Amino acid sequence: MSSDLSFILGTRPEIIKLSPVIRACQQRDVPFSLIHTGQHYSDELDSVFFEQLELPAPEYNLSVGSGSQGKQTGEMIVEIESVLEEEQPDVVLVQGDTNSVLAGTIAATKIEGIEVGHVEAGLRSFDREMPEEINRRLADHSADYLFPPTETSRQQLLSEGLPDDWITVTGNTIVDAVMQNAEIAHEQSCVLSELGVEEEFGLLTAHRAENVDNRDRFISLLEGVAKAAREQELPVVYPIHPRAKKRIAEFDIDVPEAIRIMEPQDFLDFLVLEDEATIVFTDSGGVQEETCILQTPCVTLRDNTERPETVEVDANRIVGVEPDDIAEGTREMITVESEWENPFGDGTSAEQILDALEYDRE
Ligand code: UD1
Ligand code: UDP
Repeated sequence: MSSDLSFILGTRPEIIKLSPVIRACQQRDVPFSLIHTGQHYSDELDSVFFEQLELPAPEYNLSVGSGSQGKQTGEMIVEIESVLEEEQPDVVLVQGDTNSVLAGTIAATKIEGIEVGHVEAGLRSFDREMPEEINRRLADHSADYLFPPTETSRQQLLSEGLPDDWITVTGNTIVDAVMQNAEIAHEQSCVLSELGVEEEFGLLTAHRAENVDNRDRFISLLEGVAKAAREQELPVVYPIHPRAKKRIAEFDIDVPEAIRIMEPQDFLDFLVLEDEATIVFTDSGGVQEETCILQTPCVTLRDNTERPETVEVDANRIVGVEPDDIAEGTREMITVESEWENPFGDGTSAEQILDALEYDRE
């Protein structure tokens, strides 16, 4: 069977951020197929989002699973190539900066007759130690269609020599996803009472390899969040990514009392937590964007960000992992007026992407 469009996805943020584009394809009757690499496979990082966002089951699940950078990416390239040769879509869409994105782009771009679109193009942390930075650069330079979320990311692509007529600024599809789900999340979710955080609280997510794979850095990050929490008299809830959970056990880390660890949340519950939190501590890319959209102050536990727009509008501080810096950033952000403008678009990104690809409404 031949389809016009194939989505390649494999991780939690890709499922969430591609969901509005998949929905827009359904509404426009654009034939499409979903190719799941299997990079994420635990229910709480994978199937829960398909169910909650009412996405169709993927036509292909490559079950590649976890592994070293090279093994995981290499196995994905081999498997994706074989599926694409059978499927022969006109266009493949990838989103973001994971190994699934790199593998999907490399496999697709080398097959004659297939063009590649990169959703969330042009982001740069300028930190080449991060696997994500390598992935996003290589994806941008191999794709045929580039969909940067903002003018800043468009300018970055142009500065790297990419042709203007390959580029369409679309906003970020996470705005679509938040707008499509925030109201229903507040109607349906009981997460605040279930977790006993109906008053003021802080929300933490930390899972990036550069933070949690380094014992000293991870301990410093947790101590910093605990210090800020004690100063502000806030309990902190930490829905933990399996990578971080594994490291806490392996490094035998004592998590400070101020931080309560729990299982990863589904999207609707997590949106409510982000919306209602007094402050959010994170090293996630998507969470920096969502807090900015939801008008919740954010403190980013990294040394850089590929989302500078969040800092420019005063929704976010980049503080690293030193406890004093985390506490100071929290003091600053907690007093900020949450009246910034959302720089990531008006919630029509998915429509704009399909328009740019000329998948017109029937
Ligand atoms: C990946 C992305 C990261 C993104 C994150 C989203 C890369 C290089 N990294 O990181 O940019 O922010 O996804 O969440 O692509 N594991 C499970 N169950 C799963 C998946 C993973 O338990 O379903 C555990 C395994 O122990 C695995 C570890 O998490 O070794 C890391 O998984 P991996 O896919 O390599 O990277 P993430 O940390 O999830
Ligand atoms: N998220 C979620 N439950 C959680 C933590 C995060 O649904 O317990 C969602 C969050 O709303 C955001 C996405 O996961 O849309 C971010 O994914 P992650 O932090 O894993 O990856 P990153 O954005 O850093 O690549």
